Amino acid sequence: MKKSIVMLGAPGAGKGTQAKLMSEKYGIPHISTGDMLREAVKEGTELGLKAKEIMERGELVPDDLINAIVKERLARPDCEKGYILDGYPRTKAQAEFLDSVDGVNFVIFIHVPEELIVKRLVLRRTCPNCGAMYHLEFNPPKRDNLCDKCGTPLIQRDDDTEDVVKNRLAVYNEKTAVLLDYYRNRGILYKIDGNRPIKDVLQSIVQVVGE
Ligand code: AP5
Repeated sequence: MKKSIVMLGAPGAGKGTQAKLMSEKYGIPHISTGDMLREAVKEGTELGLKAKEIMERGELVPDDLINAIVKERLARPDCEKGYILDGYPRTKAQAEFLDSVDGVNFVIFIHVPEELIVKRLVLRRTCPNCGAMYHLEFNPPKRDNLCDKCGTPLIQRDDDTEDVVKNRLAVYNEKTAVLLDYYRNRGILYKIDGNRPIKDVLQSIVQVVGE
């Protein structure tokens, strides 16, 4: 069966961490709209120029821009066996658009108490070269501030400051949390406790999605 998976959850819940592991396990692509936008910002494309300031404030990029890049990405041949969408959909309009493009069969909702989110994100570090992700306390690199995989100096995302994280959380509660009911009503929402070691969270997801 084609695995069309959506990762839902507040900023910092662990969507990207789990999506990467699931992508390796299932051999289907991890599609992160946040990563696609950051790439566009880095390359200075028209989309990147439009998205940069919106992302720095922790607001959402307009639906029509995001819908267009997701539609194009899902049409590529590597999505034929399935995909893992991380950070999309984020509004009801995006969810309805996704329904018009393809059918979703698993929505994995990773739940983490809000009071843990700020700490998770402010201490997150990422590798700008290979995309590996670390946390200075929970998952530190072996060598100080260097990526374990490729040795590149790690960076902190521009939107991982305390003020912006609080705004991202407010935006999530206002615009994205409605999707929980949207998918729950269709019987495809699976709630996973994200406040556990990374491998235990993955194990719970695999119990839902299957080997
Ligand atoms: P995006 O990049 O999607 O950010 P986000 O949704 O806020 O999610 P994060 O990447 O911050 O968190 P995550 O849940 O993936 O957690 P992670 O695994 O990294 O979006 C950024 C911006 O782009 C948005 O604000 C918006 O402007 C724009 N955008 C993107 N998509 C859009 C859309 N569809 N529509 C409109 N605008 C859009 O983990 C976090 C930290 O915790 C890491 O350090 C990790 O190591 C650690 N960690 C993970 N799991 C565990 C665990 N089990 N225990 C302990 N630590 C853990």
